[in-house]
Amino acid sequence: MPINGLLYKDLVVTDHFNEDADVVLECNDSIAFTRQIPSGSVQLIITSPPYNIGKSYETKVSIKEYLDSQIELINKLIRILKPSGSICWQVGNYVEKSEVYPLDIYFYPIFKDAGLKLRNRIIWHFGHGLHASKRFSGRYETLLWFTKSDEYVFNLDSVRIPSKYPNKRHFKGDKKGELSGNPMGKNPSDFWGRIYDDFYSGLWDIPNVKSNHIEKTEHPCQYPVELVERCVLAMTNENDIVFDPYVGVASTIIAAVKHNRKAFGVDRSEEYIKIGMERVQTLLDGTLQTRPIGKPVYTPTGKEKITQVPLEWIQAEGSAYKLKL
Ligand SMILES: C[S@@+](CC[C@H](N)C(=O)[O-])C[C@H]1O[C@@H](n2cnc3c(N)ncnc32)[C@H](O)[C@@H]1O
Repeated sequence: MPINGLLYKDLVVTDHFNEDADVVLECNDSIAFTRQIPSGSVQLIITSPPYNIGKSYETKVSIKEYLDSQIELINKLIRILKPSGSICWQVGNYVEKSEVYPLDIYFYPIFKDAGLKLRNRIIWHFGHGLHASKRFSGRYETLLWFTKSDEYVFNLDSVRIPSKYPNKRHFKGDKKGELSGNPMGKNPSDFWGRIYDDFYSGLWDIPNVKSNHIEKTEHPCQYPVELVERCVLAMTNENDIVFDPYVGVASTIIAAVKHNRKAFGVDRSEEYIKIGMERVQTLLDGTLQTRPIGKPVYTPTGKEKITQVPLEWIQAEGSAYKLKL
């Protein structure tokens, strides 16, 4: 099925590294896999690494041991990055005995010491998640965007969004009365909330991948394809190589292939690679369901039963809902 003018079925997909393939999805350790990739060949490395929080796919170790293993990989990733290339490292928190360690704070000096330059610390905000009882519930993670040099790819026009006030005009000076915005839309900013609300409030919101999300698989920590698509569109050009060293169920591969980029991914779990391969096949068949980039997040009208405040909560001691009566 042709999508974006490309015949997906003609793509070369392989489960072992081949630098001429369009898609490589290999079951291996990320460091061993990275050794096979030629120096200076990858335009974008984007990943969500294990957070060392004891998920089914990782063994929790001390934060020092965890960061040492990450440094080893990161140095190998920098070797394969093109001079114009970018690394996006998407992380949340590591938690030890209820104490929170924001991982981006630990990762920043690792990349900086390796000579990379931070271009954005993107806040990825989502509306749902666990409800904490001893601290405020976490509702965002971050994505650190580093470049290898000052000459880097950034296609702002590919990711512009509608402006809140398209009819805004200059109110003084030579351009007084002329439209001050851009008909292609505005810069989406470093706070990624809700596209629908963007129109009204300037935020983007990509729902994190929970059980009712159309992209959900067996993987406990997928990120949404849409999150990666924005980076692929902004930081790469067609036919560039995108690489994910912790590819899970291939969300990065799907985002890259959808936009005519080559994609390499590695994961040490056979199960995730198998699911990832199946997802890639369904993408090539044209049957994969992903949340379309920019699709509005569902907003309740207030009339749904689930949004109605139960009477016992209205009557409860200290109720937060009394004011709504
Ligand atoms: C946070 S998940 C990534 C999920 C992915 N972004 C997705 O959307 O499916 C981290 C992944 O790293 C993999 N992993 C952990 N250590 C690894 C290693 N040393 N080499 C390769 N993969 C590894 C795990 O199996 C897990 O799937």
